[in-house]
Amino acid sequence: NQIHAFRKTLLDWYDVNGRQLPWRQDHEPYHVWISEIMLQQTQVNTVIPYYQRFMTEFPTVSDLAAAPEAKLMKAWEGLGYYSRARNLQKAAKQIVNERGGQWPKTVEGLQELAGIGPYTAGAIASIAFNEPVPAVDGNAFRVFARLLEIDLDIAKPQARPIFEKIIERIMSPDRPGDFNQAIMDLGSSYMTAKNPDSAHSPVKAFNQAYIDGVEMQYPVKSKKPK
Ligand code: ADE
Repeated sequence: NQIHAFRKTLLDWYDVNGRQLPWRQDHEPYHVWISEIMLQQTQVNTVIPYYQRFMTEFPTVSDLAAAPEAKLMKAWEGLGYYSRARNLQKAAKQIVNERGGQWPKTVEGLQELAGIGPYTAGAIASIAFNEPVPAVDGNAFRVFARLLEIDLDIAKPQARPIFEKIIERIMSPDRPGDFNQAIMDLGSSYMTAKNPDSAHSPVKAFNQAYIDGVEMQYPVKSKKPK
């Protein structure tokens, strides 16, 4: 059926064309976590050298927990949003001091760590622990809104749980991390916000908004009232 065909098309494409990125070389939760936090407000190409330096300076979660604050801030210099770095160290201390070095493995458990919200928890649970859970960031909202012509307003908090339920049904139960990362790659190549190239997209046959000639109307996103 359609869902199986979509999964296979997406993952076959990802296996050949997925980006080779330093944080995709293994599935260590520490690696997934640091990269996802860096990628929240910063582009992939900018993150790559920061990520590599960070892993040289703080190779494990214990190194990060024990790091002098000044050294950590120095490593973060240029990435901005310094609360991200402070939360990283807080969460590292939670893992080392309160959890005996053990990572929580569920979306709920992960969100008890400082700085980890629903998106990051979904990314870590799916990529590092193979949990079949969605990781809904701006890319996933846009890709699924277009594929399925979902006209929920993604600026509204009610939209997230509904998208999550829809994606849970569609995603590959055996390769959840690859599925989520394939959606990210699709969202930053053929299904971008401003210049999509849906005519050449591997999933164009599944892209209802493209088929109907209305893809630029998706996702629906109202301006937040000030
Ligand atoms: N953006 C957010 N997470 C990402 C990931 N794991 N790979 C590439 N881009 C991303």
